Amino acid sequence: MNLQPSSRLDGVQEYYFAGKLRQIAQMRAEGRAVINLGIGSPDLPPHARVIETLHRASASPHTHGYQSYSGIPALREAWATWYQRHFGATLNPVSEVLPLQGSKEGILHLAMALLGPGDEALVPDPGYPAYAAATRLAGATARTYDLTAQNNWQPDFAALEKTDLSKVKLLWANYPHMPTGTAANQETLQKLVDFGKKHGILIVHDNPYGFILNDSPQSILSSDGGLEHAVELNSLSKSHNMAGWRCGVLLGRKDVLQWVLQFKSNLDSGQFQPVQQAAVEALSLGADWFFELNNVYRRRQKLALACLSALGCRFDPIQQGLFVWGEVQEVHTDGFALSDALLEQTGVFITPGGIFGKNGRSYVRISLCSDEEILREAHQLLTTFSEQTLKNQAIHENR
Ligand SMILES: Cc1ncc(COP(=O)(O)O)c(C=O)c1O
Repeated sequence: MNLQPSSRLDGVQEYYFAGKLRQIAQMRAEGRAVINLGIGSPDLPPHARVIETLHRASASPHTHGYQSYSGIPALREAWATWYQRHFGATLNPVSEVLPLQGSKEGILHLAMALLGPGDEALVPDPGYPAYAAATRLAGATARTYDLTAQNNWQPDFAALEKTDLSKVKLLWANYPHMPTGTAANQETLQKLVDFGKKHGILIVHDNPYGFILNDSPQSILSSDGGLEHAVELNSLSKSHNMAGWRCGVLLGRKDVLQWVLQFKSNLDSGQFQPVQQAAVEALSLGADWFFELNNVYRRRQKLALACLSALGCRFDPIQQGLFVWGEVQEVHTDGFALSDALLEQTGVFITPGGIFGKNGRSYVRISLCSDEEILREAHQLLTTFSEQTLKNQAIHENR
């Protein structure tokens, strides 16, 4: 039988990390030590109360059935209260809050519910690869908008307005920005909403890093007109160390949430109720949770920035989120070449910035999801690598 995949898959490749993780597993199987500073999956546990709630709820005989497509009322209430408390945004828990199994699935749901052939969506370059992939899976065209260091990684609205926006239905945005660590500020979020309003484009703001190394978390839903021209994705993956639990949310315009619900009710059968109850507990945690979490990340960030220094990278010392981002020296050609050479010669894996788009090509990204001891060890290996590179360069130049 000559079975072929759907043409829908033509525009998407296997996620970069899937192949890389296979390579790392192979290296480990061959007995090599590998330090993986690639992926942003928190290594720290959730709060003890969250785990206790999961235990307790799953011991009940009444929590094991299919669940509602739109989450338990207590979880919707908890997200609405959280948005009010942290961002001053007032949301109706029934119609303006839709719990999801992770925000990544929400990206695909939004694309499937809103986009189709002939539509265009604007995706940031560099940016989280799922935006373009979801857009293409929905049959629409992903058009990149440039974010560059010269522009402080902010959208250039004037340049975008010189292009034909008539087919653009949606713009994906994400601040604090992954992978560059650029802060979220209310001015940028307001400009995004104003741009959406002016051109009839829905702004989808993806906000999973708002509470990591950021003293003033922002939401696009608090912007003037945000509830009309934007929706926001959020997640407990990074803010509450619950990446594997798959707890996300979509908030804002009720018609958009209704279309997403219409799509997703054909896909899942609700989320395990004890996970939802534990998510309610997580959302009730106070400032001390974030204070302690960020103390850990602050110490790790110092070490990760030292790793960038050891590699001779240029970087902004103020970065938010779970990674640090730095520009590689010319001697390494680009971030791919540096990442490959490092993995081969030192067993340290860092992410090449080019996987996030052409504007990330000369950059690398280091994750903060390893403890200080591992980061110190990596620093040592990178320092030796750089000394060796300099020596080789000197030999080459003297030839
Ligand atoms: C910018 C961005 N959005 C969304 C996600 C997905 O998060 P979740 O675990 O909620 O699906 C990630 C994960 O790395 C991310 O970096």
